[in-house]
Amino acid sequence: MSLLPNLNGNANVLIGGASRGIGLALCKAMLARDDVATVWGVSRDARGNDDLATLARHHGKRLVLINCDMRDEQALAALATELGHACDHLHLVISTLGILHQDGAKAEKSLAQLDLAGLQASFATNAFAPILLLKHLLPLLRKEPATFAALSARVGSIGDNRLGGWYSYRASKAALNQLLHTASIELRRLNPAASVLALHPGTTDTQLSRPFQGNVPAGKLFDPAFAAQCIIEQVGRLGPADSGGFWAWDGRAIEW
Ligand SMILES: NC(=O)c1ccc[n+]([C@@H]2O[C@H](COP(=O)([O-])OP(=O)(O)OC[C@H]3O[C@@H](n4cnc5c(N)ncnc54)[C@H](OP(=O)(O)O)[C@@H]3O)[C@@H](O)[C@H]2O)c1
Repeated sequence: MSLLPNLNGNANVLIGGASRGIGLALCKAMLARDDVATVWGVSRDARGNDDLATLARHHGKRLVLINCDMRDEQALAALATELGHACDHLHLVISTLGILHQDGAKAEKSLAQLDLAGLQASFATNAFAPILLLKHLLPLLRKEPATFAALSARVGSIGDNRLGGWYSYRASKAALNQLLHTASIELRRLNPAASVLALHPGTTDTQLSRPFQGNVPAGKLFDPAFAAQCIIEQVGRLGPADSGGFWAWDGRAIEW
């Protein structure tokens, strides 16, 4: 399947959160495609990451590694400048940034476990960093078909929330969805060929989900490579007419 509608090869792709989990699997899958020219793999220490170094050895100049803490606007501005020198358009940007129990975030079970530091940590990585990434990369998304997809989570759906818990993760993903939806409206005007998507990858075996896999039914825990393939399929399927939506790995829309 074509990576993007109306794209004739030579795609420039940026994966935010490339160092492990679904982001690393997306880098591998992108580099395996002959319609992708260059992949920029970004995470806080992408240049010091062993898995990315192995990929870079196989793919040479097609994989460019950049260190960037995307919670830092100066670092995002430097990232955008570096990319602007290297290319004049990004066809696809996927943010896989997300924390649930790392970097000060907590998977709270009750109000008693909620605190300001945990809320701020979750919102900074899960909601603020991806939308600020979009802000800084906007000049590179304005000409041709372009997709900005961010990995959200079904638990960010308010309508689907029957279990409670995970206050800050749920709320930060709901905020991410609203930020992406709002950006999709602005993008429609700036580049009618652009799409902004919130995607749920399905429960996937990664560092993020590892402490919480006990209740996942057999056969429902995805391998990162499978999750990456599903995301790529949705990116290929969903175009500007679908921009601003919230979609699951299997192509089904998720209620807000
Ligand atoms: N796994 C699941 O079951 C599941 C289910 C639903 C939704 N999701 C969502 O899918 C996405 C990917 O999850 P995953 O399971 O692959 O997580 P993961 O294995 O923990 O990977 C997260 C990635 O984000 C990067 N990252 C975190 N903070 C960053 C920052 N400030 N600046 C730059 N990069 C940063 C990490 O790189 P460094 O730490 O090396 O910088 C890492 O590459 C997340 O948004 C998650 O919420 C996952």
